[in-house]
Amino acid sequence: MKTRIFLDGGDPAETRDLLGRLGFLDGQTTNPTLIARNPAARARLDRGERLPEAEVLAFYRGVVHEISGLLPAGSVSVEVYADPATGPERMLEQAAEMYPWIPNAHIKFPSNAAGLAAAETAAAAGMRVNMTLCFSQEQAAATYAATRGAARGQVFVSPFVGRLDDRGEDGMDLIANILRMYRAGDGHVEVLTASVRTLDHLLFALALGSDIVTAPYKILREWADRGVPQPGADYRYPRGTLRPIPYKELDLALPWRQFDVAHDLTAQGMEKFSADWNALIR
Ligand code: G3P
Repeated sequence: MKTRIFLDGGDPAETRDLLGRLGFLDGQTTNPTLIARNPAARARLDRGERLPEAEVLAFYRGVVHEISGLLPAGSVSVEVYADPATGPERMLEQAAEMYPWIPNAHIKFPSNAAGLAAAETAAAAGMRVNMTLCFSQEQAAATYAATRGAARGQVFVSPFVGRLDDRGEDGMDLIANILRMYRAGDGHVEVLTASVRTLDHLLFALALGSDIVTAPYKILREWADRGVPQPGADYRYPRGTLRPIPYKELDLALPWRQFDVAHDLTAQGMEKFSADWNALIR
């Protein structure tokens, strides 16, 4: 299988369980919402407890450390706190603090202008980065251009398919479009299909040849229970009534700031991640 399989989650018990069921996992992605959903974090929230920010960060570090120990040969994505007002300097400060937590971290920055500016600096310094909340081909082109010169495996871009489906657009088209656009490039950015909600998202990502897919426990469990099926040559993705997303001709050789990277779902996603994170803090 060309595609690497990651778990999308914030609970090491799920990682352990899936390692038992699948016999492998190639990595894991986390985000502030998933950390807030970790059972220990949720129990504290349910008791009405809030922690000082340093303790919330220490909790995140502990979770990531445990997951990294379970997946020593994989990659574990750790996300910086970023609300729509967070600038690149603050993102880079957090990245510098989080990156040494584990030996196999990818630091997640949002695919807005501030996140791309942070990623440009971080990648040039050799840091592994994962551009999250990607909803457009322009954002993926900007990721490519901002991290030019990075090594293969150093940079991931995470298009969120489920959230595009939620508003009637065929999120899997964005995966196909980015893969097609990147074929003209040097391969330094890997496409990580994210916001996977169904087994068909996973199967179609395999059929398209996405470099990586991250899926929640429920989907990977379903995949394991069905005997880890692969899409055959006759596989057809059930698009249903989702509207196609047309391919755009974009020039990967342009400077990243020439791409229009604004997207309302990126801004909304940052609002939600930061609200879930802030709910943990006293
Ligand atoms: O991989 C990204 C993921 O955590 C977001 O998924 O279902 O909240 O759109 P979702």
